Amino acid sequence: MYTCIGLFVFITITAVSGIHVSDETPYNIYEMSSASDKSGIDMSVCDDCISEAVSAINVLLNLILDEGVIENCGDLCDALANKTGSQPAGFVCLVVCNALGIGELIRILEHSDIDPIWYCQIAKLCPINDNGDAKFLDFQMIPSTGRVGTEFIIDCSFQSKNGTGPGMLTITIVTPQNQTASNNFGLDAKKPGTYDLRIGVKTLSRTCNPFDDSCNAFPTGTYNVTAYLCNGECGSHHPHSSIYDFGRSSFTVTP
Ligand SMILES: *[C@@H]1O[C@H](CO)[C@@H](O)[C@H](O)[C@H]1NC(C)=O
Ligand SMILES: *[C@@H]1O[C@H](CO)[C@@H](O)[C@H](O)[C@H]1NC(C)=O
Ligand SMILES: *[C@@H]1O[C@H](CO)[C@@H](O)[C@H](O)[C@H]1NC(C)=O
Ligand SMILES: *[C@@H]1O[C@H](CO)[C@@H](O)[C@H](O)[C@H]1NC(C)=O
Repeated sequence: MYTCIGLFVFITITAVSGIHVSDETPYNIYEMSSASDKSGIDMSVCDDCISEAVSAINVLLNLILDEGVIENCGDLCDALANKTGSQPAGFVCLVVCNALGIGELIRILEHSDIDPIWYCQIAKLCPINDNGDAKFLDFQMIPSTGRVGTEFIIDCSFQSKNGTGPGMLTITIVTPQNQTASNNFGLDAKKPGTYDLRIGVKTLSRTCNPFDDSCNAFPTGTYNVTAYLCNGECGSHHPHSSIYDFGRSSFTVTP
């Protein structure tokens, strides 16, 4: 079976302000459309859980820091439901807390060592695929060279023989000045098949300040691009997490 789904995400690289290259990362990376697609697996429950888990984890950490000693899962998760005004969030918390134990949950929260995908897998709201796989078939920049203002596209596809678990694509771009920034895109669990992935990288046009006639010096040169395709969160050491594959390419910005 061949499934080919495209997803389109844009990353914008902004010009460095001032003539000198600043110490700040010279671009913003952001997602313009969500990286969701039809993989043949209904991921809506999992996706909803992941987006709620991001804030639930923050609230839980604040509760632990504010309230001091919390003795049991019921107290912690009731307080979460109260704070978020969401009974379902409290219920999910209870499933996770009972599975891990209150001591372990507090320990990993305090160490910022819990990621939303894993949280939702413990809650049994996201699927687990420990035999999953994915390999990039190709990974390239189109075009490979362009002037300031060009929209570059990371054009890639990957193939999975066993399907994938819910995961993440992490894109890292290194500027010619060796500054690094990364962005993460959620990937739904997938059935076996071949999937297209397209990420836009927009370099902004040079802008000039009308008050002092100074123009942004957009950093020209070669930008290195690396992508990691992961089961679970990239970099996570929790169960059901691993790096499936990585791709590497570059693009060159000319004045
Ligand atoms: C829920 O919040 C209200 C105030 O917002 C508070 O009076 C009440 O004690 C809280 N209940 C729990 C179980 O924390
Ligand atoms: C696919 O899953 C089977 C077990 O179901 C495993 O033996 C095999 O190594 C997996 N293939 C890949 C490419 O990971
Ligand atoms: C980009 O990659 C090339 C080839 O791997 C390497 O030689 C170069 O140092 C890299 N540039 C930066 C800024 O990391
Ligand atoms: C880029 O920076 C890293 C550390 O951030 C350093 O290890 C590496 O040598 C640098 N590469 C170049 C080409 O300057």
